[in-house]
Amino acid sequence: MRRVRTGIYGLDELIQGGFPQGRSILVSGTCGSGKTTFGIQYLYMGAEVYGEPGIYVTLDERPNLIREDCLNFGWDLRKLEAQNMLQIIDGTVARLGFPTEEEFTLPSTALDVDKLLLEILAAIKRFGAKRIVIDSLAALGLSLRSEDEIRKAMLKISYLLGKAGITSVLISEISEEKKYSKYGIEEFLVDGVIILHYLGVGGSATRALQILKMRGTKHSEYLHPMEITDKGIVVKKVEETEI
Ligand SMILES: Nc1ncnc2c1ncn2[C@@H]1O[C@H](COP(=O)(O)OP(=O)(O)OP(=O)(O)O)[C@@H](O)[C@H]1O
Ligand SMILES: [Mg+2]
Repeated sequence: MRRVRTGIYGLDELIQGGFPQGRSILVSGTCGSGKTTFGIQYLYMGAEVYGEPGIYVTLDERPNLIREDCLNFGWDLRKLEAQNMLQIIDGTVARLGFPTEEEFTLPSTALDVDKLLLEILAAIKRFGAKRIVIDSLAALGLSLRSEDEIRKAMLKISYLLGKAGITSVLISEISEEKKYSKYGIEEFLVDGVIILHYLGVGGSATRALQILKMRGTKHSEYLHPMEITDKGIVVKKVEETEI
């Protein structure tokens, strides 16, 4: 099985070298747990270090704010966009119906999974993307549908992306009711699940990363301490303790 280097410092060695190629990985966590940073780092490092073009579909946060925030990590997204190594698809307008200056947007009618997929598949063809991030599934408006329809939409997304040979990071969010994802079914339909934990303890906050599943991979089962530094996300090893 071929592996896709994640670009998240310390993660690859916990999952036998990287994500299984062509598969979809769910990255889920509470608000502020680092999901967007994880997604962008995967694409930035993919393009800059591993020479793989990527697509970022944003449904929650406006592209310009993301570009601005990423400069704090030293990630110049505009440069990658100019080199055709990164494409940001703005889906926020489709959700809000506002005008945009973005080059790549979704039609500003109601957000539709099929239209989104068509736009994504066209983008993959256009510049040979190998990586994609959808931020987030929770924002796809699937909540208006039945569980069966959500399941079908999810399967369609991961099937078509897999068929295009692209390795995808699908972002979801953990709420009080659902343990691992927005709808409580995403985790069953993907090939891998990574949970980002963000716990406030006393006066300080602690971040941790957990690999819940990674099909075809012998992965760490520990809860790994994680930090968001000025270089991006760094995952730490857990010291093995003798029992
Ligand atoms: N340059 C930085 N250095 C250190 N920590 C940072 C830096 N930039 C952001 N952070 C931390 O990362 C958090 C936001 O991360 P991110 O936006 O990736 O989370 P998220 O899970 O996508 O959040 P949301 O649920 O709002 O979409 C900030 O709240 C902050 O704690
Ligand atoms: Mg986010």
